[in-house]
Amino acid sequence: MVERGSGAAERRRRRLLVLGAGAAQLGLLEAARALDLFTIAVDRDPSAPGFALADRRAIISTEDEPGIAQLAEAERVDGVIAPGIDWPVGVAARVARRLALPHPLTPELAQLATSKQRQRERFAEAGVPQPETISCKSRAEAQAALERLGLPCVVKAPDRQGQRGLALVLDEASFDAAVSTALEASRSGACLVEELVDGQEVTVNAFSLGGRFYPLTVTDRVRAEPPAFGVALAHVWPSGLSPKHVGAAVEVAREAAGAIGIEEGPTYTQIVVGVAGAKVVELAARLGGGHDAELCELALGVDLNELALAAALGEPIPAQVLAPVDPAGGAVTRFLTAPPGELRAVEGVGEAAAVDGVARVRIYREPGWRFDELRVGADRAGAVQAVGSSRAEALERTAAAADRIRFVTADVDAKALA
Ligand SMILES: Nc1ncnc2c1ncn2[C@@H]1O[C@H](COP(=O)(O)OP(=O)(O)OP(=O)(O)O)[C@@H](O)[C@H]1O
Ligand SMILES: [Mg+2]
Repeated sequence: MVERGSGAAERRRRRLLVLGAGAAQLGLLEAARALDLFTIAVDRDPSAPGFALADRRAIISTEDEPGIAQLAEAERVDGVIAPGIDWPVGVAARVARRLALPHPLTPELAQLATSKQRQRERFAEAGVPQPETISCKSRAEAQAALERLGLPCVVKAPDRQGQRGLALVLDEASFDAAVSTALEASRSGACLVEELVDGQEVTVNAFSLGGRFYPLTVTDRVRAEPPAFGVALAHVWPSGLSPKHVGAAVEVAREAAGAIGIEEGPTYTQIVVGVAGAKVVELAARLGGGHDAELCELALGVDLNELALAAALGEPIPAQVLAPVDPAGGAVTRFLTAPPGELRAVEGVGEAAAVDGVARVRIYREPGWRFDELRVGADRAGAVQAVGSSRAEALERTAAAADRIRFVTADVDAKALA
């Protein structure tokens, strides 16, 4: 553990345990620092970029529940939060309950919110539109599900995120391998076989207060092509969908939060709007992991990171802070990718940051990192965010910024063979 600052002053600062110090937590850690909170960040990766923003770091897994509970107790924290990753949302809720800390989610709610399968059951009971889904415990069950749903279909692990164990299946020959991968990734031993919903995908970022659902940004998710199925390449605000379709997405996100029973805190809901209306892919009871809170701040002037911090510390939140102030014309997060190989240098970051309207450039990896072909979100190399007078201008600005950044990688395998 690394310590900074003086003991006496720190004891008067509110203390927060943050599960995760990766790219998905950077915005929240910056907001915590701006509010002068004392943060203890947990991540098993010693090179996690968020550690630089924390007052203390603990190199343990965000899934090591006994370790995190012990740490929370020893550090006498006032709150615990898993801002951008799914499974630790449950860990945070259980640790908070154990230490009698205020928390926006009960352990029961957190458990529901972190299981795609239990969500599907709840949504079905409540009549929330969603892809037709069959839960399968074996290959034989999966085969029967395929016969019922047909191709194309989506196979996934019910309790993972970041596209781990997720596959789009276009032909029968690749179905078996997709099922094996999903079953291997699964914690529960089951996998889900789902109807592929065709349409424009949006994310509804929202915050609930006293049981009331406040929708904030609705962003278009620009998706990568297979084999990087489901990976977001950009989040674009405002959505290019018609107001009617945006409204439908907001309504199903509200219904989804209601079906699960979420009354407090942030939600991030993935929805595909197609010919059969808006269908919920998944709800997460946390901030989005793709800098969604920072995008919300750029778009609407609503500081979702601060709101999530307040919820995690049990601080009162007046509803007025959820009202948009001075919205931008457009705001975009565009993710960066790197050519496969070992990272040697990142060039052009300063030039990218200097492009008009660019609010931030994030580079996720240090030299020495090995980039693979883009398959899952974790293969992405960074992100740029920009605002503009319109959606089109914000898109142009992020494209101009991305064009200026160059990830210099070396093909280490080829060198080894030479
Ligand atoms: N049934 C489906 N129909 C259409 N697209 C889907 C379906 N299931 C998943 N996807 C696509 O894959 C993406 C990720 O799916 P999902 O959220 O289920 O997996 P995940 O591993 O939790 O990924 P993430 O961490 O990005 O949320 C979705 O945002 C969507 O683009
Ligand atoms: Mg998801």
